[in-house]
Amino acid sequence: MSKFIHNPVMLNEIIECLKVKPNGWYIDATFGRGGHTQAILDKLGPNGKLIAIDKDLDAIAYARQKYAHDARFQIYHACFSDIPKLLGNNAGKIDGILVDLGVSSAQLDDPSRGFSFRYEAKLDMRMDQSQQVTAAQWLESASSKEISTVLKQYGEEVDAHRIAEKIIAARAIQPIETTKHLSDLISQVKVRYHKKKIHPATLSFQAIRIHVNKELDALNQLLSDAPNLLKKEGILAVMSFHSLEDRMVKRSFRKLVTPNLPKKLPIMEKAIQRPFDWHLKRAMPSSNECEINPRARSAVLRAIRKG
Ligand SMILES: C[S@@+](CC[C@H](N)C(=O)[O-])C[C@H]1O[C@@H](n2cnc3c(N)ncnc32)[C@H](O)[C@@H]1O
Repeated sequence: MSKFIHNPVMLNEIIECLKVKPNGWYIDATFGRGGHTQAILDKLGPNGKLIAIDKDLDAIAYARQKYAHDARFQIYHACFSDIPKLLGNNAGKIDGILVDLGVSSAQLDDPSRGFSFRYEAKLDMRMDQSQQVTAAQWLESASSKEISTVLKQYGEEVDAHRIAEKIIAARAIQPIETTKHLSDLISQVKVRYHKKKIHPATLSFQAIRIHVNKELDALNQLLSDAPNLLKKEGILAVMSFHSLEDRMVKRSFRKLVTPNLPKKLPIMEKAIQRPFDWHLKRAMPSSNECEINPRARSAVLRAIRKG
């Protein structure tokens, strides 16, 4: 089993939010190292069910070993955009879905996964090791325009164009195959940035990771599927770690709790049938949790409940 771990973020808040029923069926769409899964299993009775999903083969191996003897637990190596296919006839029977977005500490802290500028390693960034294209391979063939669009859209990187040009010039001399090579190139562009708190390569690394893993496409699909997977009173809880994701979650939840009625209809607010209610509009980790686990700092949790 891999030695890298992950501290579950907002564990108590999430368990409180899911209101786990002993005989309920739950989905942990982002198993990671199972911190939230374990807490849900602790609340489930012998007839409850927990379906877990992850793209990462290390996460799958960990889950298979740890829960081999727990009949309530089932793990799938899949993207969470495939949940409707995995559930088949069981769609519509789910009491709660948890989505804890992004990468795990187990992925970030393992140098061989090539996610982080903190380690000298092969530039990889695939959550799913069976996927074909690594970050290095993408940077080898993408045009300057493609690179700068990704950096701008997914990293909100103000120096996107200059970084893209730097990458194109550098790869003509030598392929960009390591995290260090890429982060050095970005740092050379962002010279005035060095006094700031975050590393100059932070936003570009985030953007390339989001692109390589098609993270926002998967989230979009999940947000459109998940409401139909829940049964009455089922809860969908999503925790995001940057504003792009949180904006998508907020907009999609807002649409579900706001029925599309013509304006100025003579109906009392209370009489409107809503397919979903806000269950938790917005919660963030306590300052104590952020101190103990700085990676929790940017977390935002939102949840809706099927009416
Ligand atoms: C933040 S971690 C989850 C940590 C987990 N809640 C825990 O307590 O250990 C996110 C996990 O979701 C996985 N993941 C991210 N996007 C995914 C997707 N679209 N489909 C399946 N798994 C995904 C990642 O591989 C990673 O293991």
